[in-house]
Amino acid sequence: MGDDLNAEGAGWNRWIAVASAVVLAAAAGYAFAWQEVIGAAVLALLAAAAGAFAARPPRKLPEPAAEGSASIDDVHPSITLDSLENAAVLVDRNFGILAMNAEAVDAFGAHALGEDIRIAIRHPAVIETVTTAMRQNRDSIREIEGIGRHSTVFRLRAGPAGDARLLLSFADVSPARLAERMRADFVANASHELRTPLATLVGFIETLQGPAANDPAARARFLDVMANEAARMTRLVDDLMSLSRIELDKNIRPREIIDLAPVFENVATTSAVALEADKRQLVMNLDPELPQVIADKDQVLQVLHNLMTNAIKYGRTGTPITVTAERAKALQGEVVRIAIADVGDGIAAEHIPRLTERFYRVDTGRSRRLGGTGLGLAIAKHIVERHRGTLEITSEQGVGTAISFTLPASVSQI
Ligand SMILES: Nc1ncnc2c1ncn2[C@@H]1O[C@H](COP(=O)(O)OP(=O)(O)O)[C@@H](O)[C@H]1O
Ligand SMILES: [Mg+2]
Repeated sequence: MGDDLNAEGAGWNRWIAVASAVVLAAAAGYAFAWQEVIGAAVLALLAAAAGAFAARPPRKLPEPAAEGSASIDDVHPSITLDSLENAAVLVDRNFGILAMNAEAVDAFGAHALGEDIRIAIRHPAVIETVTTAMRQNRDSIREIEGIGRHSTVFRLRAGPAGDARLLLSFADVSPARLAERMRADFVANASHELRTPLATLVGFIETLQGPAANDPAARARFLDVMANEAARMTRLVDDLMSLSRIELDKNIRPREIIDLAPVFENVATTSAVALEADKRQLVMNLDPELPQVIADKDQVLQVLHNLMTNAIKYGRTGTPITVTAERAKALQGEVVRIAIADVGDGIAAEHIPRLTERFYRVDTGRSRRLGGTGLGLAIAKHIVERHRGTLEITSEQGVGTAISFTLPASVSQI
């Protein structure tokens, strides 16, 4: 962090970022393809199973259960449907619902059993998918938004299940759609953040090539601005790289056992110049009996650096910044809680839950003027999550802000 990248380094980083994005996309696609393969195999098995029971005479409707699966045939189809992860519904040749598994009962209600599916799930896309599958005696697949009690995005697959029956499987794809949207938003935001300084640079280059070509005073001023904008782009690329690195190993828990004292010393040293410039004092409130923690030292430094930078930027000139570290008990066991508190304008309550979102800022203009990228807290949160810790933001307007996080104490591992 903070290392100056030369142009070649920046280019290289960009390619790593692109490459990791491609790898991530490929991994996501692969996982999705697997789901489909498994889904298709289960459907084929079910079709065979349902066909085997087709000859038995139908029994009367059972009392619809409030929870759990339901079937108006013998119990076998519901047992088979229960083995499916997705909501599954079996319908007869007249579109009457013969059986539903627990997920389907949860999504569409037990009252749907015995009803015509076209009435039970009154949605044109569902009706079309089911009638197509029935008429053409083949699989019909469609993504449908806003059906069921939880208004989920479902991927409906209707397929023949023997004896003119249809098996409908409703795969909940809402989380995947949400992730896709977030990814798209992130790329759009990152591009926008990079484009702003880039546009400034291009503008100044054109001015220096044309109207200001022979104006040494203007040239010196413009070069200053250009250097600032280039530095901003470097910071942004650095932060984006950090974020993608942290995401890549978010499931690998840190294993090192480290002392926190040298970490705090490091923070005091690296922030000394900025603190001095703003007439700020650093107050360290460290428990002398602090246990060691299981953590990635560089990442802990990064969290502390990001929180310190914020306290310096958004706190009031001349006021102290307090760093506290103490033992605490959490659900996961013994932890060390570290907090950085400043005196400043604070943050209005409605913003607090969103501050760890990428690029979310209370005042974007102010953050940019102060050299912010809008990624500092998102990075901090990801790192803390990788350590299975929690990050908490408390703030009072006109008083100040305290941001704390926990790290697992090494004693909790014994
Ligand atoms: N100590 C603080 N006091 C007041 N506001 C803060 C503080 N820390 C963070 N914020 C708010 O949270 C936003 C996001 O912080 P961060 O992710 O570090 O991005 P950046 O500092 O680059 O804008 C900041 O823009 C600011 O509005
Ligand atoms: Mg910041």
